Amino acid sequence: MSETSTSSKRGVFEAVVCSNRQIGPGFYRIRLEFPGEGAKIFARFKPGQFAEFDLSTVALPAPELIPESLRDVAGRNILLRRPFSFCEVTSERGRTFAELLYCVVGPATVRMMTLSPGDSISVIGPLGNGFHIPKEKKRVLLISGGMGTPPLQHLAQVLSSRADVEIIAFAGAKTAKALPFESRLDEISQQLGFSIPEYARYGVESLIATDDGSAGYHGFVTDCLLTWLGETNPAAEETIICACGPEVMLARVAEIAIEKNIDCQVSMERRMACGINLCQGCAIECRIPGSNETLYKMCCQDGPIFDGREVVF
Ligand SMILES: Cc1cc2nc3c(=O)[nH]c(=O)nc-3n(C[C@H](O)[C@H](O)[C@H](O)COP(=O)(O)OP(=O)(O)OC[C@H]3O[C@@H](n4cnc5c(N)ncnc54)[C@H](O)[C@@H]3O)c2cc1C
Ligand code: FES
Repeated sequence: MSETSTSSKRGVFEAVVCSNRQIGPGFYRIRLEFPGEGAKIFARFKPGQFAEFDLSTVALPAPELIPESLRDVAGRNILLRRPFSFCEVTSERGRTFAELLYCVVGPATVRMMTLSPGDSISVIGPLGNGFHIPKEKKRVLLISGGMGTPPLQHLAQVLSSRADVEIIAFAGAKTAKALPFESRLDEISQQLGFSIPEYARYGVESLIATDDGSAGYHGFVTDCLLTWLGETNPAAEETIICACGPEVMLARVAEIAIEKNIDCQVSMERRMACGINLCQGCAIECRIPGSNETLYKMCCQDGPIFDGREVVF
């Protein structure tokens, strides 16, 4: 089933699991295929958009496989779909595959651990607006904190086909172990300027920051960005920052972008009960340009990507 709007189509589709593997402590990567009409629709999934997954009928793992911190909540019923972005989407000869990177944090993501090749999941999408990189931008800085990396990896994938754009990724986390990448970065913890394979495969340079200094820059990813901007002094009008991660990080990224007069888009997160502008539960307070007043926009419909200047953090 699909619904047509002026510029995009979205609907409820089945996705078939191709693989589901653990890539780090609490991090998994699922590869999905969208058969039938979903193949065409999800081939156009833009970086920064999201989809709502129905995980209500997925089985729980065996009790000993459930992380101890989640044993009390894992058995809860899942009434609502859960929103996820993709970190990679490929479409070839009519077949569309999407990769999802997830962190196990509660009842729905605990169940995702048990998805196996051949299983089907109901997915509503593509939803939301996605990042938009204007043609005049020649340098794109991707800033992620913790699990904020999936839509930025997808953006790196899509932008890598543009030879006129230089992309630099900055990835931050509390410690090396909390970086949601396949390589275990603690092994190269002293190395500054390590190239993350997930970005390197698209020819994208990457920098790591960890709060405890266990890999890359010792400090917040926002300080790493500020240091880099100070050293390289890129032309502001040709540069754009795209950020996804905890709200406190997004607030600081937006502040830095304003100070440096660089355009900035931030991916906002809210609990999304419906994902389609019905429940009004995902409000984001936004400034009205040229006024001191604010209004509420819906993260699922007007976002999740917002101009960093408009969000009231
Ligand atoms: C647009 C969008 C894209 C996302 N993409 C990804 C992704 O690619 N990979 C990934 O692992 N996660 C992603 N998430 C977050 C994901 O939706 C939640 O981790 C998931 O819903 C948790 O479900 P759960 O039942 O396992 O845990 P829950 O019990 O629902 O949540 C566990 C904890 O996480 C917090 N939480 C859950 N959802 C959100 C949210 N939306 N905003 C802030 N805090 C939240 C809860 O308050 C709670 O403390 C995305 C969220 C949004 C809004
Ligand atoms: S999630 Fe329901 S209106 Fe946005």
